[in-house]
Amino acid sequence: MMWLALFGLGVVALAVYDLTQRKHAILRNFPIVGHFRYWLEAIGPELRQYIVTNNNDERPFSRDQRAWVYASAKRENNLRGFGTDERMEQEPNSIIIKHAVFPWRPPANGAHGGDARHLIPCAKVVGGWRKRPKAYRPDSVIYVSAMSFGSLSKAATEAINRGCALSGTQHNTGEGGISPYHDCGGDLIYQLGTGYFGARTAEGGLDMALLKQKVATHKVRAIEVKLSQGAKPGKGGVLPGEKVTAEVAAIRGIPQGVTCESPSFHREFSDVAGLVDFVERIAEATGLPVGIKSAVGEQRFWVDLADHMAATGRGPDYIHVDGGEGGTGAAPLVFSDHVALPFKMAFPRVFREFVRVGLHRDVVFVGAGRLGFPEEALLAMGMGCDMVAIAREAMLAIGCIQAQRCHTGHCPTGVATQMPWLVRGLDPTLKAARLANYLITLRKEILDLSHACGHAHPGLLGLDCFEITNDQLGSRPASEVFGIPVAATVPDAQTADAVSCLVH
Ligand SMILES: Cc1cc2nc3c(=O)[nH]c(=O)nc-3n(C[C@H](O)[C@H](O)[C@H](O)COP(=O)(O)O)c2cc1C
Repeated sequence: MMWLALFGLGVVALAVYDLTQRKHAILRNFPIVGHFRYWLEAIGPELRQYIVTNNNDERPFSRDQRAWVYASAKRENNLRGFGTDERMEQEPNSIIIKHAVFPWRPPANGAHGGDARHLIPCAKVVGGWRKRPKAYRPDSVIYVSAMSFGSLSKAATEAINRGCALSGTQHNTGEGGISPYHDCGGDLIYQLGTGYFGARTAEGGLDMALLKQKVATHKVRAIEVKLSQGAKPGKGGVLPGEKVTAEVAAIRGIPQGVTCESPSFHREFSDVAGLVDFVERIAEATGLPVGIKSAVGEQRFWVDLADHMAATGRGPDYIHVDGGEGGTGAAPLVFSDHVALPFKMAFPRVFREFVRVGLHRDVVFVGAGRLGFPEEALLAMGMGCDMVAIAREAMLAIGCIQAQRCHTGHCPTGVATQMPWLVRGLDPTLKAARLANYLITLRKEILDLSHACGHAHPGLLGLDCFEITNDQLGSRPASEVFGIPVAATVPDAQTADAVSCLVH
């Protein structure tokens, strides 16, 4: 009886509050019931995701795509029965992979097929062109793209690094510096954003001595200078104050609890020659290969960079092109929706410039932008990418449900939050195995596709293996659609022989 009276009192108090507050018109007009609108709005994405939408609806990742990642990560049955539910010939811009009538045959000596992790070493040596002292060939053409500690939780960062170690995959630190959760065995690519977090001078520039020290004390294989990110090019990184815990603040060297906005520009350079000098300075000081990551907007930069690199023989060891459809921890909507070209439009514009100056077989190319699926990764490699970086698909593998709350710090699965009670739910050991399973399955299916097309290694597939459908029950050769000559998308004959022996 007393509980009932208390409940009634609570309802009356809420009604009085609703009627007298001025912030929400809907509550003033509809006291009590008005709250349902906000609750429904809050759980709308989850409701739509599970109840209302079709298998191919929902963005950024459809239900089919998420189900494939989840099943692969749990080593459940990820096959399909009864045939496709795609409207194959009616959907424009679908990828058609043209298989060979006589698929690739493993050598009869049994030297192939023993690798349980389905490693696919990169066809090029990163840093080979510039002969960096610590040039290396990554074991996996797939790697986990930049997502910083701060944007992701410590449990998520640990799960990713451990999953990378288990599966022989590289892990990009993201622009937030190296945390203890990056030190669980996985090889690192250390990303330097405009904030140079973890290797920053008091004035906000790059502290080279600190960088050398970081590189010497962690498993760093390469360094990446981030010019921009597809989801927010022209804007620096944003880490909402809710996520700037004492630990995140200490690792980055910033005040706790205050929203951290890194500058949109680099203090260390402001033109192509300055960028190339910066890259070379870092490579010289550390001995490591140095790459750049960028979204694609104005074309002038790429023309100038290719010309400069061809004229001087200096420059980045790899170029990572991030599509405008890429993910982010937090960004203004207009930047995510309208700034920078999507990957399939962006990459050819960059690659063509390097074909023009004859450097496309020297520089390593990396692509990103929803490429964590076998057909998408294979097409990217057919276009000229040597490696593919994946971010949100890795998040899905460790339990992300695409709630799209990364920017609030309230991620319900403990992946993109710093709230201890939410982070507690994510078991890094279990999720590391899930990530490894997903990465291994992805590589296996990429290899299966390559074999179906007659090749031992996906780096040997040219754009002639693909067609893109149009809206008239027809299709066009992918080399025509992307404006890239087929010959530029395959290695020369001598390299091709060596590449085909890389996979075991
Ligand atoms: C939560 C989150 C944090 C990210 N943080 C960074 C970052 O620190 N630096 C960066 O260059 N890109 C960052 N990205 C972008 C990814 O590295 C990647 O380029 C982009 O999401 C495209 O890959 P995807 O489509 O596979 O997610 C972040 C993405 C997400 C989802």
